[in-house]
Amino acid sequence: MRQYNIAVIVGSLRVESFNRKLAVALTRLAPPEFTFSHIQIGDLPLYNQDDDANQALPVQRMKTEIAAADGLLFVTAEYNRSVPGVLKNAIDHGSRPYGKSVWGGKPAAVIGCSPSAIGTAMAQQHLRNILAFLDVPTMGQPEGFVQAKEGLFDEAGNIGAASRAFLQGWMDRYVAWVKLHAV
Ligand SMILES: Cc1cc2nc3c(=O)[nH]c(=O)nc-3n(C[C@H](O)[C@H](O)[C@H](O)COP(=O)(O)O)c2cc1C
Repeated sequence: MRQYNIAVIVGSLRVESFNRKLAVALTRLAPPEFTFSHIQIGDLPLYNQDDDANQALPVQRMKTEIAAADGLLFVTAEYNRSVPGVLKNAIDHGSRPYGKSVWGGKPAAVIGCSPSAIGTAMAQQHLRNILAFLDVPTMGQPEGFVQAKEGLFDEAGNIGAASRAFLQGWMDRYVAWVKLHAV
């Protein structure tokens, strides 16, 4: 059976990030033919177009990891009604030099959680806009606006009972999306 390696990009550097916990818990809902690589973005320098011909080692590492992935899973926080700068920085790095983007054609989904009821909806919409330009086929439904509240995770870090059916369904759709679009 074909194996699928998914690059997981979390839009938060916080040690206790709810979104990182969500990413880890989500990957546990995937079937065995799916493996997940968590992409480090916290050590990337600030993007500077002057460096396009000489990309820093962490940038080269990230681009190599993305290029090797069959799909992308973005799990992002929302900062001031948009994507956190660290995530945009990583996406910009991966998109350059011009004509050498690593993102295009990789099937993706976006999801995220925040303590507020909107559950990163605006950040996700902004991220969808970026991914559309980068030619990333992004799953439209179901949307994943998750509220980070008591019970979202159980003691073992798995998705809690109240959200498990919804997020299992979300993962099932993501798996089907990747299988449909992976090259
Ligand atoms: C700079 C900043 C801006 C924020 N803006 C938003 C926002 O626009 N919408 C929202 O729901 N939460 C906002 N928050 C709260 C975050 O949702 C909350 O800090 C969350 O825990 C971040 O995700 P993480 O736990 O994965 O780091 C903001 C937090 C910070 C630090």
